[in-house]
Amino acid sequence: MPADALTRIGTVTLNPAFDLTIPLPRLERGEVNRAQAAELRPAGKGVNVSVMLSVLGEPSRATGLLGAADCAAFEEFLRPLGIVSDFEPVPGRCRINVKLVETAAGEVTDINPPGPTVAPSALAALMRRLERAPELMVLAGSLPPGLGTDAWDGLVRHLSAAGRRVLLDSSGPAFEAALAARPFLVKPNRSELAALLGRSLPDRAALIAGAREVQQRGVSHVVVSAGGEGALFVLPDACLWVRPPAVPLTTTVGAGDAMVAGLAAGLARGLDAAALARLATGCAAAAVSRPPGGLPEAAEIARLAEAAHVERL
Ligand SMILES: Nc1ncnc2c1ncn2[C@@H]1O[C@H](COP(=O)(O)OP(=O)(O)OP(=O)(O)O)[C@@H](O)[C@H]1O
Ligand SMILES: [Mg+2]
Repeated sequence: MPADALTRIGTVTLNPAFDLTIPLPRLERGEVNRAQAAELRPAGKGVNVSVMLSVLGEPSRATGLLGAADCAAFEEFLRPLGIVSDFEPVPGRCRINVKLVETAAGEVTDINPPGPTVAPSALAALMRRLERAPELMVLAGSLPPGLGTDAWDGLVRHLSAAGRRVLLDSSGPAFEAALAARPFLVKPNRSELAALLGRSLPDRAALIAGAREVQQRGVSHVVVSAGGEGALFVLPDACLWVRPPAVPLTTTVGAGDAMVAGLAAGLARGLDAAALARLATGCAAAAVSRPPGGLPEAAEIARLAEAAHVERL
């Protein structure tokens, strides 16, 4: 049996990164800042989803485009987590996203460089590689320079035509273009949905109307996250608002990725609407309250999923 025969979920990251996280009491601009610690680890939205899936006990295949010289480091990081690293190598090194965490104020400053310019032929090579794609595919994050705004659209079509269910978490013009390909699920946050629809979404009624509009465009599962207020789940057979339980806040970085991981795992497991929304919310709440620099635990996710408040709309 191949090593990943049990892998039901794949993630695609077209513009991965190393995240360099540096905690400082406070940032002194224009000064030498001496940090006590720093962490450098492979990341990017799809990679983060794969990592959260491993916490849930779901092996996954992480794929996408990655600087050839960085493939070994990603594989070394992912393999112990039960994640198969299957990136299409491209020339150049992947970017380093700097996260300056000011611990006193609880503020994070992100500096995200663009990443290497990618030739369109790399996307064609990735599509060939995706012939081995698992049944559920998570497409997440931004596009590297060099790819057109139709990159996600092309991948959604390619994977859907091959019978895969596609979960898309992206934003801006590439997200808008890919909607026409009717992914199975999308998870914009409030401002991403507002940008897509070209209008503000000031209250819950506006969010529900907006999500239904996306559903009518042919996306059966529309999840709109709204930070600490929770998320709206417009699903084929239910419309739910789920609020996370109160948790101590460590960081909101990666909350959306954790929610997408919960959605993917829940769909792979065939959960009903309420259980799916609870699992997604439990993952997100566990991610925002995780130990600094660490990962949440499966038992904590289960506890928070149980404690989430589900409202049927
Ligand atoms: N402050 C918070 N307290 C508790 N839960 C939170 C908080 N912020 C976010 N969450 C949980 O995480 C989910 C996703 O958060 P959010 O809407 O911020 O995602 P996002 O903007 O896509 O994040 P990302 O930056 O990771 O892409 C929320 O629906 C909620 O369940
Ligand atoms: Mg997001």
